[in-house]
Amino acid sequence: MSDVVNPKKKLYIETVGCQMNLLDSELVVARLRQDGYELTTEVEDADTILFNTCSVRQHAEDKIYSALGRIKGLKARRPEVSIGVLGCMAQKDQKQVLRRAPHVDIVVGPGQLERVPEMLEAARVEGKPQLAVSLARNDGSRDAVTASFAEYDPLRDPEMRPSPFQAFVRIMMGCDKFCTYCIVPSVRGPEQSRPPGVIVEESRRLVDAGVVEITLLGQTVNSYSYREPDGRVTRLSDLLERLHEIDGLRRIRFITNFPNDMTDDLLQAVRDLPRVSRYLHVPAQSGCDEMLKRMKRMYSVALYDDMMARIRETVPDAAVSSDFIVGFCGESEASFERSVRLVERSRFKNSFIFKYSPRTGTKADLLYVDDVPEEVKKRRNNELLAVQNEICREDNLKFVGRTVEVLVEGPSKTSSRRSETSAGDDGLQQLAGRTWCDRIVVFEGRLRHIGRFVPIEIDEVSTVTLYGRLATSEVVHNEAALA
Ligand code: 5AD
Ligand code: SF4
Repeated sequence: MSDVVNPKKKLYIETVGCQMNLLDSELVVARLRQDGYELTTEVEDADTILFNTCSVRQHAEDKIYSALGRIKGLKARRPEVSIGVLGCMAQKDQKQVLRRAPHVDIVVGPGQLERVPEMLEAARVEGKPQLAVSLARNDGSRDAVTASFAEYDPLRDPEMRPSPFQAFVRIMMGCDKFCTYCIVPSVRGPEQSRPPGVIVEESRRLVDAGVVEITLLGQTVNSYSYREPDGRVTRLSDLLERLHEIDGLRRIRFITNFPNDMTDDLLQAVRDLPRVSRYLHVPAQSGCDEMLKRMKRMYSVALYDDMMARIRETVPDAAVSSDFIVGFCGESEASFERSVRLVERSRFKNSFIFKYSPRTGTKADLLYVDDVPEEVKKRRNNELLAVQNEICREDNLKFVGRTVEVLVEGPSKTSSRRSETSAGDDGLQQLAGRTWCDRIVVFEGRLRHIGRFVPIEIDEVSTVTLYGRLATSEVVHNEAALA
């Protein structure tokens, strides 16, 4: 094998998109390290350059194609360098990637990632590009298509995680909702829930290796349902209960939820299990019934309102966040205003707002006209964001003078208010972490605080961040009662 010839190959990897992609990249890197690769942050130093890609919006794809364009010269100078396009764009564009970027050596879809080492080797040996993709959704029986999206959760390499005490654990793959605007069901394949025993075992191993916070991942994580051969069904609420028993696991989070599947048993589990994060990300996408119907979201605004009421009643200390698409096909000013109203009355902790981006291969692209002009999309995006930001500011202000419990993640990446502080092994520096409701907190601390839960007294806020200092006073657990 080539790893014997060249024991230290340098790997550069760039990841865009969602948490699923971050996890996939972690696993690919862990696997390649077994083959003697080591990571580099300099593209010029690399022997292998990988892009783990996203297809959810055009912008994400454009970024990758221009990055590929930028390394064309490098490949011409050093043809021995391997270039790979992995993930959703690889599955969506397949051979088109090679037409647009002929210097690419491997194209590997998200359901074929275990084949990355083999594909790299084949491309070198055969001297021609290699393609490994899964079946299209209508290219075979459900079983055949599902089998082509192989489960990819090999043994975890603790050194490969961005932080040693936080980890993602995939509980579901794929999606079967087929929202009309969304490319995910075609590029990530059919919905599959992983067996609970496997998830618990993987989590236990991670905790043994020092992890204190696990984030469960699924495109619609609360649709999780696993039927044992004896007919017993495990739901997300059951899974949370089982994970809660792992000694040493201090916090469990889960993203992303689908409104229809926000069942009472799940809300009760969140209420009753103290180590489950009080944070629910449940995308609404629109506040207009006509748009929701066109999006094929399978719920009405009334159902979403009812879900919000059930959340507030059952878990009053939970923070809820949402996603919105503005400028979807046929969205009138009145439709858009309904989204504004929904944000106003739901008082989300935050909302991720996106301009509709038509995706080839989706129902919406086939059935509807992308008829909202770009300037209107932009204006609606800014308007909705301004409404959300005002809510964030009002809610955050209520934290001033209060103390919250924070899991410290590491040095703060965002702009700081006291940037003159210098970092040293033992010196004070700007650290960032998250509360039980997913609020970002920045404070001055020491490196030894990283990975620990600490009480922080808040003395200043912005729309996205709470700023504070280490406190000795009692921790306020009931964040939402403040907000
Ligand atoms: N255009 C814009 N936003 C989209 N999303 C998904 N597909 C599209 C699209 N075609 C958004 C949804 C989803 C989030 C991950 O991305 O809001 O919740
Ligand atoms: Fe896409 Fe809808 Fe599935 Fe979310 S639920 S991944 S928006 S199809």
